[in-house]
Amino acid sequence: MPALTDTFTLSNGVAIPKIGFGTWQIPDGPETYDSVRTALEAGYRHIDTARAYGNEESVGRAVRDSGIPREEIFITTKCPAEVKDADGARHAFERSTALLDLGPIDLYLIHAPWPWNAIGSDHRAGNIEVWKVFEELYEQGRTRAIGVSNFEVADLESLLEATEVVPHANQIRWFVGNTQPETTSFCQERDILVEGYSPLATGRLLDNEDIARIAEKYGKSVAQVSIRYLLQHDVLPLPKSTTPERIRQNADVDFELSPEDMATLDGLDAGDR
Ligand code: A2P
Repeated sequence: MPALTDTFTLSNGVAIPKIGFGTWQIPDGPETYDSVRTALEAGYRHIDTARAYGNEESVGRAVRDSGIPREEIFITTKCPAEVKDADGARHAFERSTALLDLGPIDLYLIHAPWPWNAIGSDHRAGNIEVWKVFEELYEQGRTRAIGVSNFEVADLESLLEATEVVPHANQIRWFVGNTQPETTSFCQERDILVEGYSPLATGRLLDNEDIARIAEKYGKSVAQVSIRYLLQHDVLPLPKSTTPERIRQNADVDFELSPEDMATLDGLDAGDR
């Protein structure tokens, strides 16, 4: 089945399209609106946004205007990393759902275990408090799945010890040379889907000569090989582009990297961790 329409299945049985369109760093307004419309026209059925990206309103409008039935599109958004209390989480969810205006969310994530201005600080209690709100929203059917983002093993362990619902997904920074093996194995062993953001290292992989050599053999681009690499590790890629040709290209990844080429890519140090 083509990667664009094929799905992973979350631990609660919900199907999630294997390639998501990432919208991080796409400004609200025409840029987000047009690129989401292009992605949907190209066949993407999974869009990833966040309250912090500031573009939910344009994502929602693009999805509604597309004419594609809502239930055919998978929408992820995220509770801001700075929110570490129950009231804040409830308020953030209401704000995101109002801006998106698409009915229930498909996947709602805690954006990070710590606020962005205090990376690494300890918010275990706050994350548990927020997660209990997520569990309520999930029980109420306001989101079909719940998860986390940027969580490492210790962050996941403290959440799992104190709460009921095991996160359905963990969205982390994942690309050739930065494969987060400990977190990835921890998640995959527990049926927590690993999603990879910045699969092209926000563009820095594109001039990598080692990947280019492999890409040439398959008649594919560096971007396509880099995205395919995630899929073959059962990691869900979230490539971002505002260029129509690249949006289409990034979804055209129905080829198979050989075990030898996968091993070569596994061994690359892309110089960015
Ligand atoms: P643009 O949005 O101008 O098309 P990541 O997904 O790792 O965040 O990488 C996104 C960056 O990579 C953006 O700068 C995007 O540029 C660029 N990019 C995305 N897809 C491709 C592609 N197929 N070829 C070249 N550059 C790409």
